[in-house]
Amino acid sequence: MSNRITMITSGKGGTGKSTVAVHLASQLAAQGKLTLLVELDSALRSVDIISGVYGKTVYDIEDVLSGICDGSKAVVKSPLHPNLSVISAPVSGGVVRPDALECFCHRMKPHFEQIIIDTAAGLEAPFCAAAGVCDTAVLVVTPDPVCVRDARVVSDLLWDKGVTNQRMVINRLQTERLARMGIPDLDWCIDQVGVRLLGVVPESVDIALAGANGSSLPATGRDWEIFHRIALRLTGQELPLVMT
Ligand SMILES: Nc1ncnc2c1ncn2[C@@H]1O[C@H](COP(=O)(O)OP(=O)(O)OP(=O)(O)O)[C@@H](O)[C@H]1O
Ligand SMILES: [Mg+2]
Repeated sequence: MSNRITMITSGKGGTGKSTVAVHLASQLAAQGKLTLLVELDSALRSVDIISGVYGKTVYDIEDVLSGICDGSKAVVKSPLHPNLSVISAPVSGGVVRPDALECFCHRMKPHFEQIIIDTAAGLEAPFCAAAGVCDTAVLVVTPDPVCVRDARVVSDLLWDKGVTNQRMVINRLQTERLARMGIPDLDWCIDQVGVRLLGVVPESVDIALAGANGSSLPATGRDWEIFHRIALRLTGQELPLVMT
């Protein structure tokens, strides 16, 4: 099946959606794919900082979806990789209309091999609109009982909307905390959510620093390798997971 448009979602806020979206998109770009990363999180945006385009944006996705400007005007090259382009979320305002997002994706598809849509927390307009256009949904889940339960709700809702190709990234893993939170192991998380695993990302100072500074992960380090494999697995390659 064509796997061109991927939505990043979670239900619960702050699980690392934007962080995963940026490093996944960056790796797809590094693997030679022209990649567009779009953030649908009005007001609470963060992809602009994490992807290093903060201050370089003139137009945003709301301008594009409401017809104020063409998509090409809102696209900004990320310093993380020459193949990576970003369209930021607006500073405020705007409701993502499904028909407008569908039209936008249709117009962007000839220009990009991969489109990554980072959605806002919750199950509101960005979630619904992205679910309407994506080929794959990546659920970013932190290994705690609340987030795992929310992810199951999100997964079921995506199924109801016809998004059957779902994958999961477990983020911010701190193995030593699992038992204290009543989680026997990662298999428990996978079973509860019921979604196939794409990768496991540890709690990492390098990831936090890269996000704050809009810089790349240390090349070929552990975290880089994890996202490298997540990107390859997303595009259909069978590779073993990097377990931390
Ligand atoms: N694996 C990680 N290790 C360390 N810090 C992380 C990791 N993943 C995310 N973070 C940090 O967690 C915070 C929240 O991440 P992020 O903004 O990506 O979450 P989000 O799910 O997009 O949030 P929101 O729901 O508000 O959109 C950020 O400060 C980010 O640097
Ligand atoms: Mg976010």
